[in-house]
Amino acid sequence: MKEKVKFLQAFLKNPLKVGAIMPSSPDLAAQMLAGIVPDDHHIVLELGVGTGAITKFLRDMIPSKDSYLGLELDANLVKELNRTFPDMHIVQGNAAEAYKIHAESGLGKVRYLVCCLPFVSLPKEVSESVLAEIEKFMDEGCELRIFQYAHGYFLPPAVRLRDMLKKRYGHEHRSPLVMNNVPPAFTLTWSTL
Ligand SMILES: C[S@@+](CC[C@H](N)C(=O)[O-])C[C@H]1O[C@@H](n2cnc3c(N)ncnc32)[C@H](O)[C@@H]1O
Repeated sequence: MKEKVKFLQAFLKNPLKVGAIMPSSPDLAAQMLAGIVPDDHHIVLELGVGTGAITKFLRDMIPSKDSYLGLELDANLVKELNRTFPDMHIVQGNAAEAYKIHAESGLGKVRYLVCCLPFVSLPKEVSESVLAEIEKFMDEGCELRIFQYAHGYFLPPAVRLRDMLKKRYGHEHRSPLVMNNVPPAFTLTWSTL
């Protein structure tokens, strides 16, 4: 319950950057993490950690602290995240600087990019900067996961994003619709491995 309240507060403070009124459900987290096997040399980079709805499942999947790096823009959320997940690398930072932040962390190669950013509601220039960062990781061989809500799936910004990613990384793998999430969502995966 506390997590939902924190998430809603973050949303009310900054609706376009948070882009959802509820944290991802355990079912959506499971789809976002299906098949992921991180280690210290093939780490997970999570963009937009929020209240840690996906992170709490990742915690059980990583063999050590050094197999994961999380980036979250909202300083209040990061303070809370560092209290809840003292055993994980979660830093306050902008996904538009993810490549540099990861390089400075000294952690292993990014093998999985779990991207939870609300591209549909972010300003175009922010989305473009983040996509340019994602490209740097993808150029080195990586798997990208995002989710898109069903109700906005065919809206122009969502279609544009998929088209752009498709052009760069080929056809996506789309999960079945995760009904048990508010709102229902698909996960989409691209790989350059
Ligand atoms: C839709 S929420 C997802 C939160 C969580 N991962 C989940 O699935 O419940 C998006 C999160 O991305 C964060 N965010 C937005 N823009 C960002 C940016 N440029 N860099 C890092 N985080 C950002 C927001 O503050 C918010 O916590």
